Amino acid sequence: MKIAFFEIEDWEQTYLQQKLKGHKLLFFKDALSEKTVNLAKDAGIVSVFIYCKITDNVLSEFTHLQALVTRSTGYDHIDVASCKKRKIAVLNVPTYGENTVAEHTFSLLLSLSRKIPQSYERTRMGNFSLEGLRGFDLQGKTLGIIGMGHIGQHVARIARGFAMHVLAYDKYPDRNLAKKMRFAYAPLSKVLQQSDIVTLHCPYTKDTHHLLNRKTIAQMKRGAILVNTARGALVETNALVNALSRGHLGGAALDVLEQESLIKEEAQLLSKNFPKEHLQNLLENHILLTFNNVIVTPHNAFNSTEALQRILDTTLENINSVLFHKPSKNQL
Ligand code: NAI
Repeated sequence: MKIAFFEIEDWEQTYLQQKLKGHKLLFFKDALSEKTVNLAKDAGIVSVFIYCKITDNVLSEFTHLQALVTRSTGYDHIDVASCKKRKIAVLNVPTYGENTVAEHTFSLLLSLSRKIPQSYERTRMGNFSLEGLRGFDLQGKTLGIIGMGHIGQHVARIARGFAMHVLAYDKYPDRNLAKKMRFAYAPLSKVLQQSDIVTLHCPYTKDTHHLLNRKTIAQMKRGAILVNTARGALVETNALVNALSRGHLGGAALDVLEQESLIKEEAQLLSKNFPKEHLQNLLENHILLTFNNVIVTPHNAFNSTEALQRILDTTLENINSVLFHKPSKNQL
């Protein structure tokens, strides 16, 4: 089978060559578009990423295409209806990093609770004083999880290891899950009122725009901590800055900021096509960076070796399901 990969990185190419011996493989760093489709017109499988534009015109150029395999969760870049009409299967990578993002969530929380950045900076300067470095325990604290999906559930598992109490709010609560994992659901206002730490793991939609705003932040406990590794615009930045300035919130740990709107999907950040200066400008000027009880990371929660490897392994599984005519749960 001729298999073409677009927007591919060198490390991915080396791995795929080892795993797909016996097939004719084509690798292109460029995205697939009307300009580049000529390079792979007779491919049986094409693997793409989010800067590829798979329009009806592009699809019409292929002569033997059986499947489009995208190395992303989202598939906005693919005309799925046209694929259906042409009997071209479309497969994606639904999940790859729930533990990865949950681990980063706790890295942020522990950095804040134990003042790791301040401690690190000081000792590097030869200052071993403990003044101002007293932190707080996680044990016995209540963690409010907003969005009990893949990542939220993993956060709850880790929280159990710290002997924390878990309260959750989800638009679609799953009572069996709550029983099995021994946590309680509550309305959003109650989760906000009762939690010492609130962590966001719901998607960004019209419904969740500024989920945390002046009114809802005011419901949070005085001195509570907010962690956001989901999407920046879940939080109204002005309201957060205001609550931190007044001491209503005790701190915030953020992997995402409101102004990052052009980011659809994490792996996009690693692509050579992503305009890197955007995040840099945003971070350099951001007012939240001036608070010493705020930690900001540059949308890095997904970025572990294992998570990126899982994207490639699921892509290989998807390709093999097409090659061996096996049904796949990842087919749209
Ligand atoms: P998921 O789809 O498994 O879980 C989302 C949960 O949120 C579901 O249980 C859903 O019922 C719930 N939900 C939906 N609408 C809601 C609402 N209005 N209020 C409360 N809960 C609501 O998604 P997953 O994989 O757990 O990811 C969560 C989010 O994390 C993603 O949407 C994405 O924005 C973010 N993310 C961030 C990464 C990073 O690197 N910082 C990496 C990957 C995901």
